[in-house]
Amino acid sequence: MPADLRELEEQTRRRRTFAIISHPDAGKTTLTEKLLLLGGAIRLAGSVKAKKSKKFATSDWMELEKQRGISVSTSVMNFEYRNYVCNLLDTPGHQDFSEDTYRTLAAADAAIMLIDGAKGVEPQTIKLFEVCKIRQIPIFTFVNKMDRDARDPFDLMDEIEQVLGIQTYPMTWPISSGERFKGVIERKSRLVHFFQGRNTTLETPAQLIPLSDTEQLNSLIPQSDLESTLEGLEMVDTAGNEFSEEAFLRGQISPVFFGSAMTNFGVRAFLESFLEMCPGPSAKGSSVGPVDPLSSNFSGFVFKIQANMDPKHRDRIAFLRIVSGVYEAGLMVNHSRLGREIKLTQPQQFFAQERTASERAYAGDIVGIYDPGIFAIGDSLTEQQKFEFEGIPQFAPENFGVVRTNSALKRKQLLKGLLQLCQEGTVQMFVDESRAASDPILAAVGVLQFDVLLFRLRNEYNVDCSLDILPYKHARWTNISDTEIAEAKAKTDATVVRDMQGNALFLFRNDFNITYFQETCPKVPLFRSNAKLQGNMMRSASSFFDE
Ligand code: G4P
Repeated sequence: MPADLRELEEQTRRRRTFAIISHPDAGKTTLTEKLLLLGGAIRLAGSVKAKKSKKFATSDWMELEKQRGISVSTSVMNFEYRNYVCNLLDTPGHQDFSEDTYRTLAAADAAIMLIDGAKGVEPQTIKLFEVCKIRQIPIFTFVNKMDRDARDPFDLMDEIEQVLGIQTYPMTWPISSGERFKGVIERKSRLVHFFQGRNTTLETPAQLIPLSDTEQLNSLIPQSDLESTLEGLEMVDTAGNEFSEEAFLRGQISPVFFGSAMTNFGVRAFLESFLEMCPGPSAKGSSVGPVDPLSSNFSGFVFKIQANMDPKHRDRIAFLRIVSGVYEAGLMVNHSRLGREIKLTQPQQFFAQERTASERAYAGDIVGIYDPGIFAIGDSLTEQQKFEFEGIPQFAPENFGVVRTNSALKRKQLLKGLLQLCQEGTVQMFVDESRAASDPILAAVGVLQFDVLLFRLRNEYNVDCSLDILPYKHARWTNISDTEIAEAKAKTDATVVRDMQGNALFLFRNDFNITYFQETCPKVPLFRSNAKLQGNMMRSASSFFDE
């Protein structure tokens, strides 16, 4: 094998690209920080929070985030552990920005679902989990805060299975929780990882005691706690789910770990199991079939666009997930949507420490490239063969509005701003084709997205606007013909709009309207996401306003 190909293969196999999904406050920042500490990417605890606030200070549209104390942006953190290169995709904490998280998950090969042991599955976990399910990526569960009183582990697993519809497979089994927490039993090795209280550090591994050493265990763990733990373990061993590698890789069974990120307990053991089990970069579907990460031709797609990382320049940075080959500045690639060749620039952001020297990035890696306004979310860049990757799905928005500006002179500027901001994914945009000259309908999963939109229109496009809220609450995509849409509309008086790809959606004012629609038109399929529809009727976003 030529040296270049060997290096490509070696480097690609080392990559682990993943995201952590959780409900706010479950401990995502804490766990992230501990992983970065283990990987040597940061040296001091507290740096992640500190870094975040510093970044806010240098970016003026993020002033909005600061004012509201929320995190809007998603970035990538990179660290190495043993022989692995880890790309940890960060996701915004606030639920109103879950659309950003949905897109980020499109760039991840696996997800860690972090759950607060006392709270179990929370609303935001459910929403984000739905996206993982569509993607069929492996999902690891980390039950956090075991140093606090937690719910019964059977109860928690039952909830995960019932509410999320995924099977669970405990990799470890907890010995009590809260004040009585004494660690976990690793099922495979039959070793007790003993919790030495809050003095545990990341560096010192937990004390390991063989499960057969009853004498030592009895001296350390109250008898009743040990007995009930062993009973639980036996039940899991005899009556629990069997682990299936295939089901795991398709996201149908989740390995579950118990720990406490804050007290460092179980984090290193989790990371090691995670890296071992987590698959490397996988093939991605495209218009020419699955693209193999080990193909030597470069390919990648844009999953995020971030504006104004440097407030002195009104720059946009496009975040590109590499699917195959090697990213090198100077390489000529096809920009599928624009139908022309572009030259890959020097990335604005390399996330790996090692890459600053070699300046090459491989499948699984994320590079941030300068965007002079030519990229939209979902764009594919390919070397040699021209093709498009499967689109990045959008999810049903629940907030709708129309922007108004008092100045007619600013209308062109407003439309330019709206188009760019929609391409960045700030909000979604629909047109009501039955009303030819009407303003586009803007839609958002979370209402704060509208605040960001108005803020950015004012600050970056110099257009002062207000937003008239429209009385819809639900949007559902459909895939029927225009004639069938017209029939359904005539029967139900539902509002029909089209998204930027030309897919049709029905808008509903409330739950009752959806039920009425389904009863009146039982054969019309309604989808909460356009995941299965993308590419049906692709048209370029710039033709959006021509109609
Ligand atoms: P998030 O990013 O998911 O929103 O959560 P974050 O890590 O900020 O954690 C939320 C709170 O939970 C923090 O407390 C954090 O210290 C605490 N926490 C995280 N992991 C654990 C754990 O394993 N055990 C316990 N007992 N607490 C944990 P805070 O008081 O809100 O903030 P801070 O002042 O501690 O930073």
